[in-house]
Amino acid sequence: MKKKLFYIKEKKILSGKIFKNRIISSPISINLSKNGYVTKENISFFSNLAKSGVAMVTIGAAGVSKQASDTLNGMIVGEKKYFKKLKKLSNSIKKNKALVSLQLFHVGAQGNPTHTKQKIIGPSKYYFKEINNHARALTKNEIYKIKNDFVNAIIQAYNSNFDFIELHLAHGYLLHEFISSHFNKRKDNYGGKFENRLRLINEILNEAYALNPALKGKIGFRISANDYVEKGLNIIRATKLVKHLEQFDPAYFVVTAGLYETAKFKYIDMKNGEYWNYAKKIKKITSIPVIAQGGITDLYTGNNLLKKKFGDFIGLAQSLIADPDLIKKTLSDKEDEIIPCIAHIKVGACHRCRYIKQKKQVFSCITPTSWKPGSRLLKKDEIKKDLKIWENLNKEIYKNKDTIRKT
Ligand SMILES: Cc1cc2nc3c(=O)[nH]c(=O)nc-3n(C[C@H](O)[C@H](O)[C@H](O)COP(=O)(O)O)c2cc1C
Ligand code: SF4
Repeated sequence: MKKKLFYIKEKKILSGKIFKNRIISSPISINLSKNGYVTKENISFFSNLAKSGVAMVTIGAAGVSKQASDTLNGMIVGEKKYFKKLKKLSNSIKKNKALVSLQLFHVGAQGNPTHTKQKIIGPSKYYFKEINNHARALTKNEIYKIKNDFVNAIIQAYNSNFDFIELHLAHGYLLHEFISSHFNKRKDNYGGKFENRLRLINEILNEAYALNPALKGKIGFRISANDYVEKGLNIIRATKLVKHLEQFDPAYFVVTAGLYETAKFKYIDMKNGEYWNYAKKIKKITSIPVIAQGGITDLYTGNNLLKKKFGDFIGLAQSLIADPDLIKKTLSDKEDEIIPCIAHIKVGACHRCRYIKQKKQVFSCITPTSWKPGSRLLKKDEIKKDLKIWENLNKEIYKNKDTIRKT
């Protein structure tokens, strides 16, 4: 790598795993599993990311059960039947010289019965205005079942050769909902004071570590530094959360923000680099590695963030979806050839990859450089249609160059 990118090229060892540089592909869920199983498309997409030159690929939110999933095509982890294909997925990434982390989640009250065909649950009753859906409160027995699902999924992820496991404690999903007083209004020992709201997470981690002590140092946490609601997480509460989670020997913290209902604030914050400031604040109070992410569009910005101690690693999602060759092009002085993500240029200009599940579309990005699913899923004329959308958006956006953030 070029000398100018000194901080990005630095190696780092975490829990005996060698990170060849400081670039991590952020979790991306692509909604291309079948009946919960890993598919050829999953393997193709994530191993393509591994080839991009990142030190670690993060597989996006895999449900710890069918109930945990946010769509019918989400990946599921935990039951014996999923093991073989999960191992195939982790090995395909390692073959391409990257480490791999698997993010685990339960969708909680943000689930959508239209996509999942199942009843929606949360720590407490919750009315989700955007989809006119009422989540009902979990019983204690249901909480115990979910705890077991998480434990099984963590153990299976480790046994299937994933280097790290990331617990999704953000974006308004179930574990985040337990932490946040915005969602958690329980009157039992899983609600109320901070220690109670953390009980489910504590129990999951203690049980997983008791079953396999080698997991220590291998679990990372994606946390929210701002929910943009009064009783939700903010940077002060996130700091308290980090201090609490330190007792579990985390591998890393990834700093993010927002709930479904506050998405528009989060995109503006992200565009303004606020996510990086949150990461910096977290890094100041912990010795655990921090991943700064959200709106990083090029390696020079990433290098600067590392230099100025905003994080120990940087995470990229959409820049690598739009152009998986971003790293190679940068390193061979061909930055001009990088095709950017349209959403990074203008907030709200493109949501194609994010909102596929709502429209029952197949995951794909509209740029010409992006990975495309096999022809079984996406026909040539559909790809052509995507490219036309890209061309038009591109023309429209570049008419007004002031909208491009200088990095
Ligand atoms: C298609 C898509 C899928 C995503 N899936 C997940 C996910 O499963 N879990 C998660 O925590 N974040 C997910 N994210 C958020 C990204 O990890 C990342 O935080 C966000 O896109 C901001 O980073 P970026 O500007 O580098 O894209 C997803 C984003 C996109 C675009
Ligand atoms: S589909 Fe749109 S938002 Fe998603 S990565 Fe591609 S250009 Fe960006």
